[in-house]
Amino acid sequence: MRLDKAVAMTGVSRKQAKALLSRGAVTVNGKVSTDGAAILSAGDEVLVNGQRVDLSPHRHIMMNKPAGVLTATSDARGEDTVMDLLPENMRFKDLGPVGRLDRDVTGLILLTTDGELAHRLISPKRGIEKRYTALCEGRLDESDVLMFEQGLELSDFTAKPARLEILDAKDDQSLCRVYVSEGKFHQVKRMLLSVGHPVLRLRRDSIAGLMLDQSLTEGQFRFLTPEETDLLYERAGLEKP
Ligand code: URA
Repeated sequence: MRLDKAVAMTGVSRKQAKALLSRGAVTVNGKVSTDGAAILSAGDEVLVNGQRVDLSPHRHIMMNKPAGVLTATSDARGEDTVMDLLPENMRFKDLGPVGRLDRDVTGLILLTTDGELAHRLISPKRGIEKRYTALCEGRLDESDVLMFEQGLELSDFTAKPARLEILDAKDDQSLCRVYVSEGKFHQVKRMLLSVGHPVLRLRRDSIAGLMLDQSLTEGQFRFLTPEETDLLYERAGLEKP
């Protein structure tokens, strides 16, 4: 692969990659390189402004999904999707979201070009844990924690035992964290509703131990770091390509 292509893999345009190269912001195996046409060898380490470039064939992005946006690659009725939030040069071929968040739910969405990785991260077989923060109606108490621990009977399935952590409980509203290892339709909303606490706001904080970057405001996104990517492949039980 050419060095300028590797630099552009950080999400910058070819023109911006050229500027970074001529500014001396790019190193290959510890040495500044300004030659965009240089051909990289297997195992070369490329840093841009001190950050390692992920040279694997796949792209992985985390996004802080805002409310009002669909988790889909496109929508026939022309509604905004998470893909519409990305600039043209980040809409990679085969890029798609890992699982779904309801339109009104905010927080962590992963997008990847690696379909096998996406499949494994949402497969019920692997039971990958997701953490949500919910604001719900009414005062949560220890009886709710116990009911979550026992597995809740919903109309069409029994939710697996889940952890409920109460962060703040008031008569009118409570704030909590919910840890679930399955991903049925409206799962967290339905679980809280079944114990008498309709959800007012819901945000996903983490998937497989990968936390949403706190510096991303709603609608913002960034590439995963190589370390974050390693973590996902490890949790998915896959070799990183
Ligand atoms: N649980 C829900 O109720 N909605 C989501 O979008 C995700 C989990």
